[in-house]
Amino acid sequence: QRLEMALESIEKGGYPHFMLKEIFEQPRSILDSMRGRMIAESDHMMMGGIREFENKFVNAERILIVACGTSWHAGLVAEYLIEDLARIPVEVEYASEFRYRNPIISERDIVVAISQSGETADTLAALELAKSKGATIFGICNVVGSSIARATDAGAYTHAGPEIGVASTKAFTAQVTVLSLIAMILGSKRGTLETSKLRQLMVELESIPSKVEKALELNEQIIKISEQYKDATNFLYLGRGYNFPVALEGALKLKEISYIHAEGYPAAEMKHGPIALIDEHMPVVVIATKDSSYEKIVSNIQEVKARKGKIIAVVTEGDTTIPAMADHVIEIPETSEHLVPLLSVIPLQLLSYHIAVMRGCNVDQPRNLAKSVTVE
Ligand code: AGP
Repeated sequence: QRLEMALESIEKGGYPHFMLKEIFEQPRSILDSMRGRMIAESDHMMMGGIREFENKFVNAERILIVACGTSWHAGLVAEYLIEDLARIPVEVEYASEFRYRNPIISERDIVVAISQSGETADTLAALELAKSKGATIFGICNVVGSSIARATDAGAYTHAGPEIGVASTKAFTAQVTVLSLIAMILGSKRGTLETSKLRQLMVELESIPSKVEKALELNEQIIKISEQYKDATNFLYLGRGYNFPVALEGALKLKEISYIHAEGYPAAEMKHGPIALIDEHMPVVVIATKDSSYEKIVSNIQEVKARKGKIIAVVTEGDTTIPAMADHVIEIPETSEHLVPLLSVIPLQLLSYHIAVMRGCNVDQPRNLAKSVTVE
């Protein structure tokens, strides 16, 4: 027993929980997921799995993404990335719905299955179905040799290293990194992404690990914010554009490990219902980085403030407008809006972690949840 405990503490590398260790590993795991796949100085990008099916990818009529949970959120980020950079229509599906709704799939479709564990039953069944209809199946898995990885025609591993905490953190950022690379490769092959823009994105992606490092320095500030909100019964998470999937992911993290009810919404949807929930007891996490929807989200913040909601805003360093409106401001480094989820998700992971710890929850093994969901 004592030996087991000693071993576990070594595995946690000095951190109290695997989840915290994995959050702090992200500068490294993101680097590992892009290593050997891109050299910014020479505009060089390569991904074995894509090269094998290059023609199919470049001429794909449509890309269908199937996944569950956090991996599905990474898929949503990919929808924005691929449609914008490579101009291929993308649909993101919950694997569990896709497999049972008689979907229309053709041989010209590429189905991308995203899964950390590579063992999720619904995702595996969804890809088997797509395969039986002749689609090309591409896998993005973290666990090498997993069932999903073996069932695909080609794929790319995320190389995030083992993820033990049930709440997915470093696997998500690794998935988003790989999906960003794929969108960039496809954009450049299809001629929809100019070389100068591609170069810019590559340089920016290379700088992400050090910017994540910087975002992790927010830990102390987030502990203080967590103390104030640990007893809240509800949380709302809002974001637009690339930060909309991040809002969903932030809410999921909080639900999973702290058991606080939380919902993520695209900020503009607020007025179609959720705004009715807002009063002085509702903490609202708004991801409002400087991007193309900045002005819009500023007015969403004002709408929340007018109803006395408490605003915890994640903003770009140096923002001077939002600090005047928000109750708390969390500053993350500036980056391209295409890559912003890799940074904006970090404070949300930390927030859910600290709130859960303060509530005495079992962070690494939350109730009712398993690391891989191998039953439907
Ligand atoms: C993430 O924090 C969850 N534990 C869960 O939503 C997870 O992402 C989902 O079950 C999918 O798992 P997979 O990536 O291993 O397929």
